[in-house]
Amino acid sequence: MSNLLKSIFSGFNKIGRTSEGSAIGVDIGSSSIKVVEIKKKGGKAVLETYGAIALGPYADLEAGRVTNLPVEKVALALKEVLKQSGVMGKNIALSIPIQSSLIFVLDLPAQIGEDEVAAIVPTEARKYIPVPITEVSIDYFILPKREQSFEEMNNPEMPSMPADKINVLVVVTQNDAIGKHRSILSQSDLESSFFEIEIFSSIRANFEHELSPVLLMDFGASRTKLSIVEFGMVKSYHTIERGGADITNSISKSLSIPFAEAEKMKKDFGLYGDPAEKTLADIIRVHIDYIFSETNNVLLGYQKKNDRTISKVIFTGGGALLKGLKEVAADNFRAEIETGHPFSKVEAPAFLEKVLITMGPEFAVALGLALRKLQ
Ligand SMILES: Nc1ncnc2c1ncn2[C@@H]1O[C@H](COP(=O)(O)OP(=O)(O)OP(=O)(O)O)[C@@H](O)[C@H]1O
Ligand SMILES: [Mg+2]
Repeated sequence: MSNLLKSIFSGFNKIGRTSEGSAIGVDIGSSSIKVVEIKKKGGKAVLETYGAIALGPYADLEAGRVTNLPVEKVALALKEVLKQSGVMGKNIALSIPIQSSLIFVLDLPAQIGEDEVAAIVPTEARKYIPVPITEVSIDYFILPKREQSFEEMNNPEMPSMPADKINVLVVVTQNDAIGKHRSILSQSDLESSFFEIEIFSSIRANFEHELSPVLLMDFGASRTKLSIVEFGMVKSYHTIERGGADITNSISKSLSIPFAEAEKMKKDFGLYGDPAEKTLADIIRVHIDYIFSETNNVLLGYQKKNDRTISKVIFTGGGALLKGLKEVAADNFRAEIETGHPFSKVEAPAFLEKVLITMGPEFAVALGLALRKLQ
């Protein structure tokens, strides 16, 4: 956020501010921390403030770099970003990075009662978990049976979902990761009402009422996260170990320029390319092609297994702002492509509208957390 905007913004929202009734979402990403505070006014969610801070400098690295900081450093950065954004509340909702968890869907026989599922999930989940069961926390959701699609109703030849199965979404989180987040909070003199794995926050922030399967792509600095969502539920989840910082690294190495300069070039020109540096677009394109080809494999697998096609792709995460990304995506996916606009879910001053559209992808997780807190 530019300094000018920040001061306009903090000017307008400082008047009569209290932390009462507000909901604060905090997303500790691999390259930066994002914070959003909202409040309920007259039955509506209203944006109070937001802010971000790069983590690179806390590891003596450039902004935009992927970090793996010790608790003390993260706590320092967190306190700083809360102060800069004028957040006053002490109770925050915090996201847990997806790499600390495992998400999968179990197919169980339909004869099993819902009460039996609780006992079966840990036993079944053990097959998927590479560490002792005592080191993780397990959560699960029974996925609703989907309705027949329009094509199925009109085409008796089409196979429909077998009625002899129930699908259970299982979410396994490492206790270590939860412990680390608890320490960050206590060292920052904060409390948390809940932790949530980042993709669930992002889904809440980016979805409206989509019913048919949608692919949500979170283009982060360290990795790209793919969630296939149907009826608001995660049906399938994958990570691609490639992100925005890898692109900047390549530009920096190929053109022998510092990381910070490469980061700026990437943001200024993206896939449209720099007229003065003909190879830029190609360097970026290699990574985007890799991400999209991995994504195609995931989609193909999903479509085969579930006999459902993805009708829409939603882009989120800072990397979603890459210039030309949507055009390349339009050639790759046979689906509608959209960039998420999470701030459309909250009221904000009209003069911020344009800024909030561009900031949305980066702040989706933090906003999604705050929205849950407000409910
Ligand atoms: N305008 C832009 N064009 C291209 N890339 C951009 C733009 N703005 C931000 N990015 C990239 O987005 C990435 C940061 O996104 P985000 O804040 O979502 O990541 P993160 O949450 O820190 O990472 P992760 O989710 O992988 O832990 C960086 O690689 C940054 O270079
Ligand atoms: Mg992120």
